[in-house]
Amino acid sequence: MGLGKENKGKKRIIMKKTILITGGAGFIGSHVVRRFVNKYPDYLIVNADKLTYAGNLENLADIEGKKNYIFEKIDIVDKESVMRLFRKYPFDGVIHLAAESHVDRSITSPDEFVFTNIVGTVNLLNSARVSWNNSCQGKLFYHISTDEVFGSLGKEGYFTEHTPYDPKSPYSASKASSDHMVRAYNHTFGIPAVVSNCSNNYGPNQFPEKLIPLVINNIKTNKPIPVYGKGENIRDWLYVEDHASAIDLIFHNGKTGETYNIGGNNEWKNIDLIRLLCSIMDRKLNRTPGASEKLITFVKDRPGHDLRYAIDSSKLQKEFGWSPIPEFADGLEKTVEWYLTNEKWLDGILSGDYSKYYDRMYSGR
Ligand code: NAD
Ligand code: DAU
Repeated sequence: MGLGKENKGKKRIIMKKTILITGGAGFIGSHVVRRFVNKYPDYLIVNADKLTYAGNLENLADIEGKKNYIFEKIDIVDKESVMRLFRKYPFDGVIHLAAESHVDRSITSPDEFVFTNIVGTVNLLNSARVSWNNSCQGKLFYHISTDEVFGSLGKEGYFTEHTPYDPKSPYSASKASSDHMVRAYNHTFGIPAVVSNCSNNYGPNQFPEKLIPLVINNIKTNKPIPVYGKGENIRDWLYVEDHASAIDLIFHNGKTGETYNIGGNNEWKNIDLIRLLCSIMDRKLNRTPGASEKLITFVKDRPGHDLRYAIDSSKLQKEFGWSPIPEFADGLEKTVEWYLTNEKWLDGILSGDYSKYYDRMYSGR
C-alpha cells in the first residue's frame, strides 16, 4: 500500500498503489500519465522527468492539479537523485519511458543515448532492487522499448517476441542494451520485470523532429518536406493512445519475465504516407489539390537507414484481447487537426533550440 504525499498544497491521501512513470512529460509518456491519473484515482502517479528538449509540462497541463498526480524533475543518469526518489516514495511499480528517442540525434551525438538509455535504466533498476529488497511481492518494473532492437526486415516477415536482437543505430543499440539489463536483473536478482517492444507511434504532442509532425508543420509553413533516400522505407504506425492502452493492460496483466510486442498492423512506405498527409493538409488548409505535394524534396538518406519494421502483436491480442482502435485515416485526421488547433504548443517548440537543430540537421542534405 503506497502513501500519497502532499505536493504543492495537495491533500494527504491514502493510495492503493504508488507508481513511478519516467519520461511522462514527453510524447508517449504524457499520454500514459494522463490515462493512469484519470483512470486510476486511487493510484498515486509520480511522473519523473528531466525535461530535456523533448519534455514539456504543457503536455499535462490538464491534469496538473489532480490529487493523485505529482511531478518530480529528475535526471535518471544521476544515481543519487534516483536513489532519493525511491527513498521518498514507496513505489509499487515503475513504468519506464524516459529516453533519448530520436534516431537522427543518436547518429550525430550517440553519447547522450548511452547515458540516458543505458545508465539511466540501470540506475532505476538498482534503486528498485534496493527499495524492493525485502519483498518483491506485487512489485513490477515495466520497461518500454522499441521494435528497432530487432533490426531491419526485408520485404517479408514480421518481428515476433522471439526475433533475435540486431540493432543497427546508436539509438536502437542503446535501447537493446537497456532491454538486456532489465531481463538480466529479472533473471539474476529476481526483480519482477516485463518489457514491451512497440512500433512507430503518432498522435498529439509528438515532438516535430519526428516524421509525421515534421511533415504537417512543413506543409503548414510551406517549407520543403525532406524525404530520406527514395522514401521507400516502411514503418508500422500506431496511434499513441493505443500504445497507452496496451501499456495499461501489460502493466496490470503482464507476466513477469515476459516480452510483449505492440504494433499497428499498419505498414506504410514513407513516400505514400507523406502523400496521404499532403492530401489531408490540402483539404484542411483549403489549398488546391496537389499543392502540398510540390513541397516534397528527396534528400540524402539517413546513414544505416533501416528498411522495414513490422510487428506481429498476436500474443498481446490473444492474451489480453488488445487491438488498435482508430483506422489510420481517422487517427491521422485527428492528429493533423490537433497540430492545426494547437499552434501555441507548436510555436513554443519551434521558437526554441529546435530551430537551430533543424537548420543543422537539414542544411547539408
Ligand atoms: P520523447 O523523446 O517524446 O520523450 C522522452 C522523455 O524522456 C522526455 O520527456 C524527456 O525529457 C525525458 N528524458 C530524456 N532524458 C531523460 C533523463 N536523463 N532523465 C529523465 N528524463 C529524461 O520520447 P517518446 O517518443 O515519447 O518515447 C518514449 C519511450 O517509448 C522511449 O523509451 C522510446 O524508446 C519508446 N518508444 C517510442 C516509440 C515512438 O514511436 N516514439 C515507439 C516505441 C517505443
Ligand atoms: O519504430 C519505433 C521507433 O520509431 C521509436 O523507437 C523511435 O523512438 C521513433 O523515433 C521512431 O523511429 P523512426 O526513425 O522510425 O522515426 P522517424 O519519425 O524519425 O522516421 C520515420 C521514417 O521517416 C524513417 O524511415 C525516416 C524517415 N524520415 C524521417 C524524418 C525525420 C524522413 O524521410 N524524413 C525526415 O525528415
